Amino acid sequence: MIFESPRLIARRFEPRDLEAFAAIRSHPDVARYQSWENFDAAAAAEFYAWVKDRNPGDSGWFQFALEHKETGAFVGDCGLKIVESDARLAQIGYTVARQFWSRGYATEAIGALTRAGSVLAESGLGKSVRF
Ligand SMILES: CC(C)(COP(=O)(O)OP(=O)(O)OC[C@H]1O[C@@H](n2cnc3c(N)ncnc32)[C@H](O)[C@@H]1OP(=O)(O)O)[C@@H](O)C(=O)NCCC(=O)NCCS
Repeated sequence: MIFESPRLIARRFEPRDLEAFAAIRSHPDVARYQSWENFDAAAAAEFYAWVKDRNPGDSGWFQFALEHKETGAFVGDCGLKIVESDARLAQIGYTVARQFWSRGYATEAIGALTRAGSVLAESGLGKSVRF
């Protein structure tokens, strides 16, 4: 686990997430305003090959898997990119599975991500943090 919120655990992606991850991102409502159109198994595998070697604190994006504490369901993902020239600033991204919308999960995850990002920024960027 990297950080948590009342109902969610944010952790590294694992291969077992990829089927649900591709299904979530392929849903038309989820993909509508995103950069991808069709997020298939090959796209999920390519994403995992990229993320598995990355660590929070690395330059660029780090993407967290969001798991429901009670059920273990893969709820979605969120990502953080702290601005290297000014660690007070960061870009965030988040996706929640269509069936879990409007239950406050994104709000909850982003609150926890923001707190985790502050810790990360204060610990010094460029230092990979292994979890
Ligand atoms: C945006 C998203 C993550 C929200 O997830 P969620 O868990 O349903 O969000 P929450 O339940 O915490 O909050 C829902 C609130 O956000 C609002 N909301 C949802 N999508 C929104 C959007 N694109 N813009 C503005 N507000 C939005 C809802 O109206 C709702 O407000 P309400 O509670 O007053 O009705 C989800 O709709 C999603 O995955 N969308 C596709 C991916 C995406 O657009 N990601 C964001 C940009 S990276």
